[in-house]
Amino acid sequence: MDVYDAISQRNSIRSYKATEVEEDKLKKILEAARLSPSASNRQDWKFIIVRNKETKKKLAKAAFGQSFIGEAPVVIVACGTEPTTFMACGQPAYTVDVSIACAFMILQAYELGLGTCWIGAFEEDEVKKILKVPEEVRVVAMIPLGYPNQPPSQKFRKSMDQIVCFEKYE
Ligand SMILES: Cc1cc2nc3c(=O)[nH]c(=O)nc-3n(C[C@H](O)[C@H](O)[C@H](O)COP(=O)(O)O)c2cc1C
Repeated sequence: MDVYDAISQRNSIRSYKATEVEEDKLKKILEAARLSPSASNRQDWKFIIVRNKETKKKLAKAAFGQSFIGEAPVVIVACGTEPTTFMACGQPAYTVDVSIACAFMILQAYELGLGTCWIGAFEEDEVKKILKVPEEVRVVAMIPLGYPNQPPSQKFRKSMDQIVCFEKYE
């Protein structure tokens, strides 16, 4: 599979089979995160792998009851460990860095036949309590991971001319 195929065919998956995720596949997905670029190559991130059923259920509750999170065999919780670092452009480095790593993991997972869904709707304080995340660390995203139990769906996207302009902003 080439990169464009993965980008164009991937969908968010909100229903998972009970089939476990093989260790070698999980390792490859985490390797995609490890190899991701980051501002000044700081790699200020931590990825918590959750397989425990009770913990996953609690995470689903902390994500406003998105129950499919609890059904996925694995949930990856992506954290930024140095949230006070800002890039010269004014953007916080951790949200950008961790998001890139998550995007790479999602594409790698797709290539391995696994489904994911980026979860941004959650109560961070609750997630931190459940996983004993230190106060200074921020939780950027949760990514349930497992074999899809739903058919591929159509993509709805803005057209190219709505999102691209040339030489100046218009
Ligand atoms: C930053 C971000 C946060 C998101 N949060 C959630 C979420 O909490 N729950 C959910 O079901 N989907 C969530 N999504 C998935 C989007 O709804 C989905 O990517 C979008 O509708 C496009 O669909 P596709 O991923 O199937 O192409 C999130 C996606 C992103 C990038």
